[in-house]
Amino acid sequence: MALHMAVEVVRDSEVSLTAQIQRFIKREITHGGLHPGTRLPSSRRLAHDLDVSRSVVVEAYGQLVAEGYLEASQGAGTRVVRHLAPAGTVVPALLDEDRTPGVRWDLRPGGANQPPFPRAEWLTCYERAVRAAAPSAHAYPSLAGDPGLRLELARYLGRARGVRTAPGQIVVLGGFSQALGLLCGVLRRAGADAIGVEDPGHPGQRRFAEECGTRPVPLPVDEAGLDVSALAASGLRAVLVTPAHQYPTGVTLHEERREALVRWARDTGGLIVEDDYGGGLWYARGPRPLALQRRAPEHVVYAGTASKCLAPGLRLGWLAAPGDLVGPLLRERARYDLGGETLTQLAFAELLRSGLLDRHLRRLNTQVRSRREALDEAVRRHLPGARVLGPAAGLHAWVRLPRHTDEAALVAAALRRSVAVRGGAAFRARPGPGAPALVLGHAHLPRSGVTEAIRVLGELTGDPNTRR
Ligand SMILES: Cc1ncc(COP(=O)(O)O)c(C=O)c1O
Repeated sequence: MALHMAVEVVRDSEVSLTAQIQRFIKREITHGGLHPGTRLPSSRRLAHDLDVSRSVVVEAYGQLVAEGYLEASQGAGTRVVRHLAPAGTVVPALLDEDRTPGVRWDLRPGGANQPPFPRAEWLTCYERAVRAAAPSAHAYPSLAGDPGLRLELARYLGRARGVRTAPGQIVVLGGFSQALGLLCGVLRRAGADAIGVEDPGHPGQRRFAEECGTRPVPLPVDEAGLDVSALAASGLRAVLVTPAHQYPTGVTLHEERREALVRWARDTGGLIVEDDYGGGLWYARGPRPLALQRRAPEHVVYAGTASKCLAPGLRLGWLAAPGDLVGPLLRERARYDLGGETLTQLAFAELLRSGLLDRHLRRLNTQVRSRREALDEAVRRHLPGARVLGPAAGLHAWVRLPRHTDEAALVAAALRRSVAVRGGAAFRARPGPGAPALVLGHAHLPRSGVTEAIRVLGELTGDPNTRR
């Protein structure tokens, strides 16, 4: 293995080269430059790179082995010993990742609770993409994203979601979160320092908007979706909505509300940000609602993401924006980075072009539907008086509990029985008791797990401690 290691040596020194190499490596190990387990270059390779005789390096390595800094073994070469304490770990304080290790059934939505990634399809498309990539694919990318992907996205979104857009209006980004950050920046520059958000809604998005300097204003949601009259009364100029499958209640924005929302945008010049996070995750029978964007493409920014239908780790999302917003979005982006990673974009374009994303979604929907059916059945059987809201779609379900349930006590009691769930309160922006509810991510679990977890929840609701 032709490993490289940066070593400082001074030729016309009184200190021998062996001693210099030895001291340098020892200092790097002690000060955290060379980490436990790091493999070092062979003595031959390092001697060649430093232009010294091999015996100089052999001797330095040998002494460090004798002193317990390095270990050498046949086949595995020379390494920094593994048992030294690693340098202090910096834990990022920004993200509330809230992992509870060791629970038997983890039904909290988001995070690592995802259905499996379609490895075979991705490998096929990634290989095709790398093989076919032109030299320009390795240059700095277009800020709006790879032109081939923007073309495929315009085609796909038009076909699969009824979005009315053109490749020139598509912007490819590192997920919806980046899109939201850029939109907040654009809105602020246009004089709007607040954005309406659904309540209940995504707490991370509220925090994110706030961090970006845009005040999130909670607007109520009921079983018909966002209360548009509250939006109209608010004087806001922008709103973030999840019309297909409201996050987290799962309800679909009612037809009259859709019309009212579009009317609000036309009458006030307001901007609607349509977060279609569920994308192709829809397994209810019958047709699914088309994108809201098609009703007023000049007032709606349509946003999609690969986070639910593929994996959040890809950090891939896209906007279909009104034409006059593309320039400001790209100028905003240019303040922070030089564009997204091209090979992933090319692979995703191939996934769209080849129809493999459609195939993956069909399989995934069949699998997730079966798990949702297990959830519906278990709720009927074990949680009498509870009701699952919204159509069968997405990776989670909102289960409204009977009024007398003490939601917080139930969540805590479930954790003691090794079942992790989120209560509705975790998603509410305004304090005060809403109807008690649980948000259950079911798509990553086998049917038996979904059933078992809900059976435990059912047992706990029979306990007087989980009643108000
Ligand atoms: C409501 C909602 N919108 C969007 C996203 C996707 O965000 P991103 O694309 O940044 O991963 C999520 C993911 O959890 C979500 O829950």
